[in-house]
Amino acid sequence: MGIPNLQIALDHSDLPSAVADIAKVGEIVDILEVGTILCLQAGEEAIRCVRALFPNKKVVADTKCADAGGTVAKNCADAGADWMTVICCATIPTMKAAAKEVEEVQVELYGDWTYEQAQQWLDAGISQAIYHQSRDALFAGETWGEKDLNRVKKLIEMGFRVSVTGGLDVDTLKLFAGVDVYTFITGRGITAAEDPVVAAQAFKAEIQRIWG
Ligand code: 5RP
Ligand code: MG
Repeated sequence: MGIPNLQIALDHSDLPSAVADIAKVGEIVDILEVGTILCLQAGEEAIRCVRALFPNKKVVADTKCADAGGTVAKNCADAGADWMTVICCATIPTMKAAAKEVEEVQVELYGDWTYEQAQQWLDAGISQAIYHQSRDALFAGETWGEKDLNRVKKLIEMGFRVSVTGGLDVDTLKLFAGVDVYTFITGRGITAAEDPVVAAQAFKAEIQRIWG
């Protein structure tokens, strides 16, 4: 079992505040995400900035792309992204077209999806999935629990590298002890903390304590 990566999601509504946070914690985390909110606000420029600041880190554009996969992916790759997300309801041709342009595509799991579809993503050569508790579901009172753990385990058994995300805090991680999670993605757990550096270090230390 590997040690899970820590990915920061920059879901800022403006580029200067995203840059200020990533400058503080970019070296501590493993993977840098230009979050959906930032993609919508500052798109290509945000990807270019993050890439320029951290030329040696993996950069993900969390576009949650639903269509025009090839064009969106080429634009992300040209700006410096390594990986890009597609929404799980996108068609296989959209996913395949995106996968031709970026190093890897990750399928974002929201709402209704089936293991049958998941097998089709694997058959199409896409082996990264992001298991997500939506921000709005969490606001509506949803919590992390056994049902999530079981779905994550099943996806890993199928052969996916699975990232886990959505309102994570350091305490949530122990729920996944013994599970081969590929990456924990956190946004507000770091960026909304009083001290983002201390928060990023706390996530890393907890991952090390549980999986190290
Ligand atoms: C929301 C996202 C976020 O980037 C992801 O949920 C991480 O952010 P947070 O830890 O703040 O929930 O993709 O759709
Ligand atoms: Mg995101």
